[in-house]
Amino acid sequence: MASALNPRHLPLRLALRPRLPLLPSTSSTTTTTTPPSCLPIPTSIRLPPRRHKSGPYGYTLAKTLVFSRFGEPRDVLSLHTHSISPALPDGAALLRALAAPVNPADVNTVQGTYGAKPAFERLLGTPEPAAVPGNEGCFEVVAIGGGAGGGGGLKKGDWVIPAQSGFGTFRTHALVEGAERKLIRVGGAKGREGLRAAQVATVSVNPCSAYRMLRDYVDLVDLSVQSFARGDGATGGAWFVQNGANSGVGRAAIQLGRLWGLRSINVVRERATPEETAALKRELAELGATVVVTESEFLDRSFADRLRDEWTRGGREPVMLGLNCVGGKSAAAMVKALSPRGCMVTYGGMSRQSFPFPTGQQIFKRLRFEGFWLSEWAKENPAAKRDTINEILELMREGKFKEAPLQEVEWNWDTEESVLKDTIQGTLEGFRPGKSIFVFKDT
Ligand SMILES: NC(=O)c1ccc[n+]([C@@H]2O[C@H](COP(=O)([O-])OP(=O)(O)OC[C@H]3O[C@@H](n4cnc5c(N)ncnc54)[C@H](OP(=O)(O)O)[C@@H]3O)[C@@H](O)[C@H]2O)c1
Repeated sequence: MASALNPRHLPLRLALRPRLPLLPSTSSTTTTTTPPSCLPIPTSIRLPPRRHKSGPYGYTLAKTLVFSRFGEPRDVLSLHTHSISPALPDGAALLRALAAPVNPADVNTVQGTYGAKPAFERLLGTPEPAAVPGNEGCFEVVAIGGGAGGGGGLKKGDWVIPAQSGFGTFRTHALVEGAERKLIRVGGAKGREGLRAAQVATVSVNPCSAYRMLRDYVDLVDLSVQSFARGDGATGGAWFVQNGANSGVGRAAIQLGRLWGLRSINVVRERATPEETAALKRELAELGATVVVTESEFLDRSFADRLRDEWTRGGREPVMLGLNCVGGKSAAAMVKALSPRGCMVTYGGMSRQSFPFPTGQQIFKRLRFEGFWLSEWAKENPAAKRDTINEILELMREGKFKEAPLQEVEWNWDTEESVLKDTIQGTLEGFRPGKSIFVFKDT
């Protein structure tokens, strides 16, 4: 978790206690920002009824969601107010949040079911050791400790993204020590030019995962080139199949696949009406999907014939890669759709159901099964993560890559804790019109 580590960055309440005993506490879980009436503040120094986002002596007042035990977000999250000293250590950066999406993994982390467990710490002056949820976001550098050059290549006004997961992005501000190592500066030489905060905030998890899964398991681009070089009559690039195709990852895979000349078979769940299902299919086709089928079409016995006869020229164009977001029956059907020596990469389990690996398919088709976890990949490949992100940001800047549909939730200084908690709680519900994203306004 990024935070103040130095005694100089004690919560303002503690730092100022000897000199200003009557200053109202800012380190609490309340969202109240005017002095509580129970405090005996003399009229002569009573503060005007306004927010104190910038405290005395240049302290920055910040709010962050925190949790001290695992459970449902609505039960265990609370909003904590604290302060950040203006005296930043060398190489530290003070960040202001601009946007942070809520991904399924963020909810799993709070529930305690995710692969990585956060450390609970007292660094933010919380009553109990706590962690800050949120893995992804776009921040603006407000100040750098050690003056110009203190943060390596970072400077005030830059936009940055956390380099690793577990950063804790559901907060208005963050103090990051060792900033150069922990942050990715957005956009290389062009910086943030031509980019929106929502694009930047959503690039590092889903698009990055789609990019790596399409590139690192089966060389589909090379397969396409070889097939064309052989002149074996292929009518397009190599195929991949994916379920959860309307997810953030799925939409990214569709677009990257199209840009790289690949063809995709995309599985989505039926919507409430045939018209809505048709609209979703059209939407994905416009993004670059070659084929979109519903889950019932995919599970139907006729799918194998359709795959062979309608799309892959009698099975002569193999489907060598499957991206599994869902698990359960959908994953079992994906195993059947894959061609011999194909590879299935599992990266999500949205149905919360495991799936049987059909033995005959495994043996006789000699399939390969892999698991992808971005967090571990990023730890092992920090430079590649930076490059992947900047490559996708460049595609966004050029208008060649669209972020997934988003539902903005404004986070202002006086936004109620319940609004933030409800937003996170709703993330795992199906059939959502878009991914929730906190957009920080008046903080
Ligand atoms: N392993 C990694 O490193 C990694 C990286 C990124 C993402 N992920 C995982 O990838 C998955 C998708 O993440 P995202 O952020 O792209 O998701 P998202 O944009 O929030 O979309 C969620 C997707 O899950 C589907 N879904 C929801 N409930 C479902 C259910 N009960 N059965 C079947 N499908 C269901 C939704 O389909 P409907 O619209 O039909 O509800 C939608 O396609 C998550 O499991 C996430 O944890 C993993």
